[in-house]
Amino acid sequence: MAIDNDFGRLHIPAIVKRLGGFLLACVGLLVALICLTASVHAWWAVAIFGSLVLLGLWDMNQRHHALMRNYPIIARARWVFEELRPYLRQYVVEGDLEGRPIDRDSRSVVYARAKGQESAMAFGTRLNVYSSDYEFITHSMAPRPHCEGDLRVDVGGTDCKLPYSASLLNISAMSFGSLSANAIESLNLGAKRGNFYHDTGEGSISRYHRKHGGDIVWEIGSGYFGCRNRDGSFDEGAFQATAQDPQVKMIEIKLSQGAKPGHGGMLPGAKVTEEIADARGVPVGTDCISPAFHSAFDSPREMIEWAAKLRELSGGKPVGLKFCVGQPHEVFAMAKAMHELDTTVDFVVVDGGEGGTGAAPQEFADHVGMPLREGLVLTRNALVGAGLRDRVRIAAAGKATGAFHIAANAAIGADWTNAARAFMFTVGCIHSLKCHTGECPVGVATQDKLRQRGLVVEDKAQRVHRFHDHTIETLKEIVAAAGLDHPSELEPHHLHHRISPNELRAIDRIYPFITRDQLIEDPGATRYADWWAAAQTDSFRPHRNIQVDREARYQEARGRGVF
Ligand SMILES: Cc1cc2nc3c(=O)[nH]c(=O)nc-3n(C[C@H](O)[C@H](O)[C@H](O)COP(=O)(O)O)c2cc1C
Ligand code: SF4
Repeated sequence: MAIDNDFGRLHIPAIVKRLGGFLLACVGLLVALICLTASVHAWWAVAIFGSLVLLGLWDMNQRHHALMRNYPIIARARWVFEELRPYLRQYVVEGDLEGRPIDRDSRSVVYARAKGQESAMAFGTRLNVYSSDYEFITHSMAPRPHCEGDLRVDVGGTDCKLPYSASLLNISAMSFGSLSANAIESLNLGAKRGNFYHDTGEGSISRYHRKHGGDIVWEIGSGYFGCRNRDGSFDEGAFQATAQDPQVKMIEIKLSQGAKPGHGGMLPGAKVTEEIADARGVPVGTDCISPAFHSAFDSPREMIEWAAKLRELSGGKPVGLKFCVGQPHEVFAMAKAMHELDTTVDFVVVDGGEGGTGAAPQEFADHVGMPLREGLVLTRNALVGAGLRDRVRIAAAGKATGAFHIAANAAIGADWTNAARAFMFTVGCIHSLKCHTGECPVGVATQDKLRQRGLVVEDKAQRVHRFHDHTIETLKEIVAAAGLDHPSELEPHHLHHRISPNELRAIDRIYPFITRDQLIEDPGATRYADWWAAAQTDSFRPHRNIQVDREARYQEARGRGVF
């Protein structure tokens, strides 16, 4: 080693830089061996340094990691820091408004409400109210008294013999399989105590959903779990038997979810335990596939007819569709089919592209599917414009963690809001983002019984219940502050959004909100004319070339000097 320049910097030979860790281990082993000749107690030093030398030799000769071949032993420190990175960031570095997908402030409010702790904020907002994502609800000079009792909405039109009264906040679809048995039990028990519903997710109804008897919305995905024939097709008899169970309050046909719309999924055979197989009606230990598409229908018309059939088979319970909006003409085709058949689904759940999942390809989570705001506006407009809104309720899901989100969704047109990840926080999720590994440290998203031990059902069920109730109470306060009696009175103009440092707009001046029957009577007067014209009820494909139509309309508008 030599001083290599005028500034006295040490020159370390490249070989030492590369093999420093390994050489140190060799020197250590040599010293330990010498010590061993003097004292037998030095055996442990020989064992430690001997293991390091063997590790270094293995690192240098393995063929998968270039960094380890070049920097034996030392390169492993990088892995340690990679492993620790999420924890260091979350516990040491992360600011209150940081953290993705759900920021720390939002998580903290959920934790506090779930634990029954004070969730009030000292010293004013930490949000930058002049930033372009800032939103607020307009209050009134004449606030109203808080409305009494639970906030609920009736679901189920004239075709329903068994309508359901839903809370304005419910547990969004998450399957047993993606969540643990203890998590499912806690959610269901919390839902029972708080009188709100627990959506099963597409993994169907497990024994843990049934144990406490909380209201269930049974989600039927493309794998038809719990109601499938051996070949994976839909089994009417099996559906009827389960759907008529009094604990099942509504049926939700899943077309897609925001985190991975159009993708389908597979639970590998190794994870298909006896309990999961029992819930889903599939063989133990074999891959459990959810195709990307349904085999029970092939067109919007068939889809609505099938939904009506499920309603009949269930004994008249509300049946709905869950989807993340993709191609707009398909949403209009759904509305057209209901209009033509004069039969509707009872509700739709619009999931945002920002929605959560246990596991999804990053490209799908990041870049496929419409965000909630736009998806909700479009769905609301399709139903209002086709004159169906009175018969079809709308629910919204996408990063709802508090009462403001429910109020904002209501202002745009949602009758209620579902939350998935917020309820995961209530049962102990610490946002470690390892759900897909089976190594959830708090027993929420794992089938490992030992990890689930940490999740005590009674304790967490109470948190689920408390979070729901405190959030609904805060929603009542927001509604009263706006001078209203019920969230259903919130209108788009009650929600304002900043679009630049010196300009705010009510949401109905940002998005179009069309009027009742407008798509039937005068679609050309709406900005949806091309999508509506392209929507056909006997195919999900567009009826005509949307691009040509849109180009023609654009040229015509340019001719009128609109652009
Ligand atoms: C762990 C996990 C599992 C999920 N499983 C399902 C499912 O089986 N079916 C479904 O429709 N959506 C599923 N979702 C999506 C949620 O129901 C919800 O629509 C989405 O996460 C948006 O809500 P959030 O932002 O409150 O989490 C899952 C979400 C998570 C986080
Ligand atoms: S703690 Fe981590 S792994 Fe467990 S549910 Fe939460 S994000 Fe997923």
